[in-house]
Amino acid sequence: MKKVKIFALLAFVFMLSLTLISPVMGQKKSTKKSSGSANVGAKIFKTECTTCHAGGKNVVEAEKTLELATLKKFGFNGPEDIKKRISEGAGVMPAYKDSLKPAEIDAVANYVWAQAQKGWK
Ligand code: HEC
Repeated sequence: MKKVKIFALLAFVFMLSLTLISPVMGQKKSTKKSSGSANVGAKIFKTECTTCHAGGKNVVEAEKTLELATLKKFGFNGPEDIKKRISEGAGVMPAYKDSLKPAEIDAVANYVWAQAQKGWK
C-alpha cells in the first residue's frame, strides 16, 4: 500500500515538473528565433564598439563616424574594408584580430555596413 502511495506521489511530482518546465521551454524557443548572424553582429557591436561608436558616432574622433557618407569618404566601400579596420585597428581604436573570431569580425562588419545603409536607425 505504502509503495503505491509513493509511486502516485512521484508520478504527481513528475507531472507537475513537466507543466512547470514547458512554459520555460516555450520561452526559450521564441527567443531563439531572433538569433541569426545579424543578431550576432549587433551583440558584438554593443559589447565591443558602443564605448566609442554608440549610434554610429565616434566619440574619440568626432569626424570619423560610421555613417555611410563618412565611411565612403575615408575609403570604406563595403564590409570587407570594415573587416580590415576591425582586425587591424587604427590609432585609439584597438585591433580585434586576436580577441574576436573571424566569423565574429565578419558579423560585426556586416552589421556596421547594414546600419550605415539604414542611417543607424
Ligand atoms: C576605444 C575606442 C574605439 C573602439 C572600442 C572602437 N573604435 Fe572604431 N574607431 C575609433 C577611432 C578613434 C577611429 C578613427 C581611427 C582613425 O581613422 O584614425 C575609429 C574608426 C572606425 C572605423 C572607420 C570610420 C571612419 O569613418 O573612418 C570603423 C568602420 C570602426 N571604427 C569600426 C569599429 C567597430 C566595428 C568596433 C568594434 C568591433 C570599433 N570600431 C571599436 C575608436 C574606437
